[in-house]
Amino acid sequence: MQTKTVLILGANSDVAKAALLQYVAKGYHVIAASRSTDELQRFTADLQHVQVRYFDAADFASHAAFYAQLTEKPHIVLYAAGYLKHNEEALLDWEGSFRMMQVHYAGAVSIINIIAMDKQNTRLERIIGLSSLSGVRGRKSNFIYGSTKSAFTQYLAGLRQYLFSRRITVNVVVAGYIRSKMTAGLNLPESLMLEPSFIASAVVNAGSGFTIVPGFKWKLIYTALKYMPEKLVAKLP
Ligand SMILES: NC(=O)c1ccc[n+]([C@@H]2O[C@H](COP(=O)([O-])OP(=O)(O)OC[C@H]3O[C@@H](n4cnc5c(N)ncnc54)[C@H](OP(=O)(O)O)[C@@H]3O)[C@@H](O)[C@H]2O)c1
Repeated sequence: MQTKTVLILGANSDVAKAALLQYVAKGYHVIAASRSTDELQRFTADLQHVQVRYFDAADFASHAAFYAQLTEKPHIVLYAAGYLKHNEEALLDWEGSFRMMQVHYAGAVSIINIIAMDKQNTRLERIIGLSSLSGVRGRKSNFIYGSTKSAFTQYLAGLRQYLFSRRITVNVVVAGYIRSKMTAGLNLPESLMLEPSFIASAVVNAGSGFTIVPGFKWKLIYTALKYMPEKLVAKLP
């Protein structure tokens, strides 16, 4: 059987690293793409079948060359890059707001368009994006981060339909709170925290459905949030 190749974009994320370990354990070849190549070289030093490549989601002009230089084109693509600037700070700091747009949306669209439109890569079978419950409804405490995730989710939803005839599956992981670098220092309810390895196994075992909401409690929250009347959403933080 042919070894499958997984391209992880934003591979220095805690969730991405956990996914990398799980893909390698399953016998996949992984291309780990990130700005932090030294850190990833250290992380993968004892692993076989992993290549580390430099990738900056916000450097759009570099994306075509980045993809062209991959000697093996991927069967599976995981987009995991993320950046969080708190809403109150982002409201006063355009650079912070713009960076979230670049990392979660513009950068993702730029590189995924290139990958998806390479029709010569007939082995491409799946594209998975890490999105967030923050993107489900606009709420006053996090609507800038949330709107970038919402845009990413909608892009993936349309891409899924666009790629259907080529038998390429597109999934979105709509995650709640994850214990990672991103949430370190935030005061979040312990009972709702999920481990990166738990989210990673939802990624690695993704099926054919579009939306994946890891964790039973978060599935309930997702459904409640999705159908909640606007009046009640307005009462949420
Ligand atoms: N943590 C949560 O509670 C949570 C909840 C829902 C969704 N998510 C989403 O899940 C994904 C993974 O999150 P995580 O919690 O694992 O975050 P994390 O550990 O903080 O990792 C985020 C990673 O994104 C990378 N990144 C940032 N800007 C980049 C750029 N311009 N180009 C390439 N990589 C870039 C960073 O890599 P370097 O700085 O090393 O380059 C960083 O390692 C993110 O998209 C996040 O928004 C997280």
